[in-house]
Amino acid sequence: METILTGITTTGIPHLGNYVGAILPAIEASRCKDVRSFYFIADYHALVKCHNPAVIHRSRLEVAATWLALGLDVEKSIFYAQTDIPEILELAWIINCVTSKGLMNRAHAYKAAVAKNTSDSSNDRDRGVSMGLFCYPILMAADILIFKANKIPVGSDQIQHLEMARDIAARFNYLYGEHFVIPEAIVDQKMSILVGLDGRKMSKSYDNTIPLFASEKMLKKSIMSIKTNSLPPGAPKDSNACTLFQIYQNFVSAEEAYLMQRRYITGISWGEMKQTLFEILNNRLIEPRQRYQELLKNPGYIETVLKNGAAQAREYSIPFLRELRRAVGIRPLSDIV
Ligand code: TRP
Repeated sequence: METILTGITTTGIPHLGNYVGAILPAIEASRCKDVRSFYFIADYHALVKCHNPAVIHRSRLEVAATWLALGLDVEKSIFYAQTDIPEILELAWIINCVTSKGLMNRAHAYKAAVAKNTSDSSNDRDRGVSMGLFCYPILMAADILIFKANKIPVGSDQIQHLEMARDIAARFNYLYGEHFVIPEAIVDQKMSILVGLDGRKMSKSYDNTIPLFASEKMLKKSIMSIKTNSLPPGAPKDSNACTLFQIYQNFVSAEEAYLMQRRYITGISWGEMKQTLFEILNNRLIEPRQRYQELLKNPGYIETVLKNGAAQAREYSIPFLRELRRAVGIRPLSDIV
């Protein structure tokens, strides 16, 4: 039996890129038979980047509501908040103690922060680097290892973290015996390539996202603001170099995408293409958008769903942590080995 697990950090409002890249593939995978799936909101990870309690609180609600609104089947998968599973943090400490600092020195996010400090001619390499940021990959490894997950769908920016989780698991197994399953990253190419309003990768950090559950009016405004070139109606256009088409193809069949490519060649106008993209997205989002609004009004219900998920998840994590504590030598004193 395969165990799929993935988390999303609860910072910011979920956008179309998250939907195509992470949420949709995860929901589809959770419907497969013979898999056990764990999906969680990585709210402890959110604290690394955000020190605003109101934003943390709101984002936990919005991200959880997003998954539910888009149809995550909580009968078939286990859906929970990281902060409801104390065993994750206990494990994080245990594996902290077998992880070399040198391994963490190589993490991209940390290295990027140091490189920036160095180029700013700051005399403090570690300015703005919290221990949370430095140890982020260890917490992520704990998320994965505690549930013996073997398949981890992630964006390509997370591959290194998965490599680190593998290293950490192998190191622990070497020291204490074969307790951990070695996880594997599943990288969907689409995950990193949904483009944003300005043609760069859609990302919160570029401020070029299309929010998933914006009102119909806002969605339209967003799409109308996507940059195109100035070719007039009737002039042949290149679909490959076009942000509108890049987004469009994620939401239609291969055949429809092909037909649209033909229309680019025969000179579809930007106005018409934008209207078409708007309609496709809007139709897709009408129902989830409504469900999302209803869910937001009912945080108590979301909390119950998450708590149920946590209770199920802990059926795995509690006994496994007990096993791991024993493995490292934390066991009742009366228990003579
Ligand atoms: N670091 C991931 C991200 O930023 C989120 C995450 C946290 C995660 N823990 C995880 C993903 C465990 C997969 C498995 O996207």
